Amino acid sequence: MAEQLDWSSLGFGYHKTDYNVRCYYRDGKWGEIEVCSEETIPLHMAATSLHYGQEAFEGLKAYRCPDGKVRVFRVDENAARLQSTCRGILMPEVSTELFIEMVKKVVRLNERFIPPYESGATLYIRPLLIGTSAQVGVHPASEYLFIIFVTPVGPYFKGGFSSNPYVIIRDYDRSAPLGTGKYKVGGNYAASLMANDIAHKKGYACEFYLDAREKKYIDECGAANFFGIKNNTYVTPKSTSILPSITNKSLMQVAADLGLTVECRPILEEELETFEEAGACGTAAVISPISYIDDLDKGKRYDFGSEPGPVSKRLFDHLRNIQYGIVEDKHGWTTVVIE
Ligand code: PLP
Ligand code: COI
Repeated sequence: MAEQLDWSSLGFGYHKTDYNVRCYYRDGKWGEIEVCSEETIPLHMAATSLHYGQEAFEGLKAYRCPDGKVRVFRVDENAARLQSTCRGILMPEVSTELFIEMVKKVVRLNERFIPPYESGATLYIRPLLIGTSAQVGVHPASEYLFIIFVTPVGPYFKGGFSSNPYVIIRDYDRSAPLGTGKYKVGGNYAASLMANDIAHKKGYACEFYLDAREKKYIDECGAANFFGIKNNTYVTPKSTSILPSITNKSLMQVAADLGLTVECRPILEEELETFEEAGACGTAAVISPISYIDDLDKGKRYDFGSEPGPVSKRLFDHLRNIQYGIVEDKHGWTTVVIE
């Protein structure tokens, strides 16, 4: 029976669903997919994920579309990024095939939790890979658990597609130039908690990072990539310390398809002054337009207006229409999970 939730007032949080799916890596190979209704994980107290951060996660969404089908967006890209993270912190790779099979299974098993199209809410899919075997020396584990759970979610920021203020934080780095910023590991998020807390306490929606080495170039905005718009051009940072966002990669293509010029290059902080529009993008954030970015150390405000700009709106609408199967998916980004 379909779950009766107040879908349209859902925030971005955890809501219990019926099942998760799990797969264990033991003796050098991945086992069979297991279906589980238990929310907890029995874990050795010396597991490498607990002590040495051998942990990675992913995030993608399933969309209940107006044609009645359920689609997921660029699931192969999430699989590829998890594989890159695995290589980065010495965990065994999950094949794209296994990743996709588990995503399909967990979405189908929890069909009653997929929010209706009209609600604007979606089913967030959270794959998680952890080192489970005991180590006291700093070494990779020999055993791992790959688990995927889902949870229905509303917008990441209150108000959905509306503009939010950000603040540049210089006192805390989320990742180093040759560190783990380009991987989706929990340690990056631990490193961001303080900056995020400071930003919230000062009344901002989120923290904004400059590059860790020189504090001159734009990195990213909280758990989302940055883009700026000027002269019909979509500009986004090139940096070794940001997460390669699948939403941003898609928006670069969408922008090009809509006739914009696309530039992925280092962006000096001062260039913020020249953008007509700015936004944060990611699976959770989708596109979150930025109203202004404050640099409190310099006493400077980069203002982009309190309402979302026209180009951001076009990009948002087009991306969303692909995700919901409303416009042609000419790049083959969506996978139908439920017909
Ligand atoms: N940057 C960070 C630090 C993130 O956590 C995320 C979220 O996954 C993103 C960017 C956006 O990436 P994606 O569009 O693949 O969700
Ligand atoms: C996402 O956009 O999927 C994220 O992972 C952001 C955040 C919830 C960590």
